[in-house]
Amino acid sequence: MTAPSPRRRLVVTAAAALAAALALPAAQAQSGPIKIGVILPMTGPQATTGKEIEGAVKLWMQQTGGKVAGRQVEVLIKDDGSVPDNTRRLAQELIVNDKVVAIAGFGITPSALAAAPVATQGKTPLVVMAAATSSITEASPFVVRTSFTLPQVSVGLADWAVKNGIKSVVTLVADYGPGIDAEKYFAERFLLGQGKVIDKLRTPLRSPDFSPVLQKVRDAKPDALFVFLPSGQGAQFMKQFKERGLDQAGIRLIATGDVTDDDLLDDMGDAALGVVTSHHYSAAHDSPANKKFVAEFMALNKFRPNFMAVGGYDGMRVIFNALEATKGAGGEALLAAMKGQVFESPRGPVYIDAQTRDIVQDVYIRKVEKKDGQLWNVEFATIKQVKDPGKSK
Ligand code: DHB
Repeated sequence: MTAPSPRRRLVVTAAAALAAALALPAAQAQSGPIKIGVILPMTGPQATTGKEIEGAVKLWMQQTGGKVAGRQVEVLIKDDGSVPDNTRRLAQELIVNDKVVAIAGFGITPSALAAAPVATQGKTPLVVMAAATSSITEASPFVVRTSFTLPQVSVGLADWAVKNGIKSVVTLVADYGPGIDAEKYFAERFLLGQGKVIDKLRTPLRSPDFSPVLQKVRDAKPDALFVFLPSGQGAQFMKQFKERGLDQAGIRLIATGDVTDDDLLDDMGDAALGVVTSHHYSAAHDSPANKKFVAEFMALNKFRPNFMAVGGYDGMRVIFNALEATKGAGGEALLAAMKGQVFESPRGPVYIDAQTRDIVQDVYIRKVEKKDGQLWNVEFATIKQVKDPGKSK
């Protein structure tokens, strides 16, 4: 065997040093601010997710004065551009150099999965505010989720479709973790209700062109098209759905709420009217807690909060509640204090399941309607306390 090259030796040494640093217990300076690292896509195709969560973090900090357990909190926001290698590197830097008590954010599933081993090694809680593939919570015992899962919001819509005379569907999803979850759980449940799945279509996560798949849907003539696309792609999809005349052809559009995203909904125009979706949050949710949240969020940020904002806001709440309980300590104590939290979110009542570390929440069936000249996802049915169905398999 030849000796390792100097460059290779350097890489190995750096990796060993990092591993050693990460293995240290999460030592926290007792003076100075408590630091929280938030890794978000602030640039690139998921930038709207970053903007929404950043707006929610700012609101939380404004409302609390950025103080917990008698200490000041400093939030370090880092842009990963949705590139998983960046997410992993930023997670390492935040834990090792900045000594944050928690890392949070994670706009897409591949980013959350890239950071999960770093959280395990660094014994640092990782709060998923956005990504929604069921399996993410199983990638590390330090993962806690405040967003949702695609199985959680897809099965109720399949039941609704069966009850509302939809006998055949084509499914169309983004071709990666959350899309594959949505396709599987929607189709299984729809089949259980004697529905027929004519075709299962997928589009790439990056730069999708919906024209070819929409032509296939037109030719297949299902009663309805079921869609999941990540936040940010809904407006372009809706435009092409209309341009291709699928609504004229009598094909109903049903989707997870990611497609009629509150962030973009009002710009989608009348093409979106009447679309039925299921999701865990609507900016139109009728509760005093949500009215306050929406009003204060809009006053601060000048745009409408969407489900990403709520995931970010509740993520900050879970971290702050836990820090209150540990008096500012991090590591396993902080993780333990996150499990089992129960609170009223702007989305409705929720809790963090202590076993799965995933959020349990109400799921709503909604319809796009115009009110006071603006488009909203108006909730008309509630499925109470839905656990992620992905966990029971
Ligand atoms: C994911 C990203 C999204 O923008 C979304 O709406 C749902 C899931 C994800 O990558 O997990």
